[in-house]
Amino acid sequence: MSVRRVEVNLPGRAYEVRIGGGALGSVASAVRSMAGARASRVFVVVDTGVPERFVDQLSADLASQGFVACVACVTPSEEIKSIETYHRLMVEIASTGHTRVDPVIALGGGVVGDLAGFVAASYQRGVAVIQCPTTLLSMVDASVGGKTGMNLVVPDDAGGSTLLKNLVGAFHQPRLVVADMDVLASLDPRHRRAGLAECVKHGMIGAGLGDDAHAGLMDWMIEELDGIRAFDDSTIEELVGRNVALKASVVVGDEHESTDAKAGGRMLLNFGHTFGHAIETIEGVSPVVDEPGLAPLLHGEAVGLGMVAACCAAVELGMCDRSIGDELVSMLEAIGLPVRVDGLPPGCEILDRMMRDKKMAGGSLRVILPVGWGKCAIVEGADEGAIVAGIDSIRR
Ligand SMILES: NC(=O)c1ccc[n+]([C@@H]2O[C@H](COP(=O)([O-])OP(=O)(O)OC[C@H]3O[C@@H](n4cnc5c(N)ncnc54)[C@H](O)[C@@H]3O)[C@@H](O)[C@H]2O)c1
Repeated sequence: MSVRRVEVNLPGRAYEVRIGGGALGSVASAVRSMAGARASRVFVVVDTGVPERFVDQLSADLASQGFVACVACVTPSEEIKSIETYHRLMVEIASTGHTRVDPVIALGGGVVGDLAGFVAASYQRGVAVIQCPTTLLSMVDASVGGKTGMNLVVPDDAGGSTLLKNLVGAFHQPRLVVADMDVLASLDPRHRRAGLAECVKHGMIGAGLGDDAHAGLMDWMIEELDGIRAFDDSTIEELVGRNVALKASVVVGDEHESTDAKAGGRMLLNFGHTFGHAIETIEGVSPVVDEPGLAPLLHGEAVGLGMVAACCAAVELGMCDRSIGDELVSMLEAIGLPVRVDGLPPGCEILDRMMRDKKMAGGSLRVILPVGWGKCAIVEGADEGAIVAGIDSIRR
């Protein structure tokens, strides 16, 4: 088993991301050495999409290290990433007799990672969490950096309700991240493509980070596009390693997404997200590809569409050349990601939803817009007409 390691060098909270086939086999012994002899239980939050053999193996490994493993299952969706599910998990962990020295393991995609991470952040004011991502998206993005949380449904002005993404949460860094490439074999093609959208996002900010290692990410992805599209094992492992390294360096530079971070900091990782979050959870919005019944959008699809809208808004504002958006669209299309959607409500409605996103700064809308190929900037109080033009550009 060859496992590559990427360090997240946060002062006082450094941790390792292990990437490679079979890496899950190292989790139980790592948990024992980090939790110490007094730990006796592990609360494992498992994504029901993960093939059973990985769950069974992890439980057996934990038992052989002397742990009682209590497994709680979650079937992921944005609706289930809720306070109700959080409450259920809190009741389950409390009823197992879990103590402050006992860790939590998240084995699943981004929904499970965010929920289990928030349970760990808040149970008895914080216990250790080990993130074991099982989707491409959670490997390259969600499991690294310590963001945890859930969605909240709030009443809207029209007498209905709106699901606001990730509105409740906390920063809680994992003690270890283990990305076992073998688990990706069962991930369906649509979720594979959704994960690639976050890799493209990293490529779109890589050149602005002031580090040659990340500046070349997009060019490398273009060179390796055939292997990426074919989901070739070694190419995907390299892709995960490069993306995790980029994300780790951004997180180390700006752990808590401060508004005055040098050169944009962690906020740059939100490229595509303010637009994306606003359209992700709208019922009936479906990607325009040759398959019926795909509504609602997946998170990665919404991020890809959000990046397209952001490019168009940036062109409207005179911030970048139209060719940047064209190249982005070619890249997303080559991967098989949607660049237009059906069923989008009027632009002003989407704008309203964007205004309620937590990326608002005071009373003004904050968006991340491209200023060149691989470079983005934070724009406060962007002109609403340009934002609506961006939204309209992804409407079929
Ligand atoms: N915390 C962060 O920094 C961060 C960053 C990006 C995204 N996110 C969040 O992550 C979520 C999206 O994550 P996601 O794309 O992983 O979606 P997801 O968690 O909904 O998982 C997608 C699907 O894949 C299934 N699945 C998981 N592992 C599998 C496997 N090995 N084989 C087969 N099926 C498997 C799941 O059951 C689910 O049906 C969103 O809620 C988003 O807000 C968080």
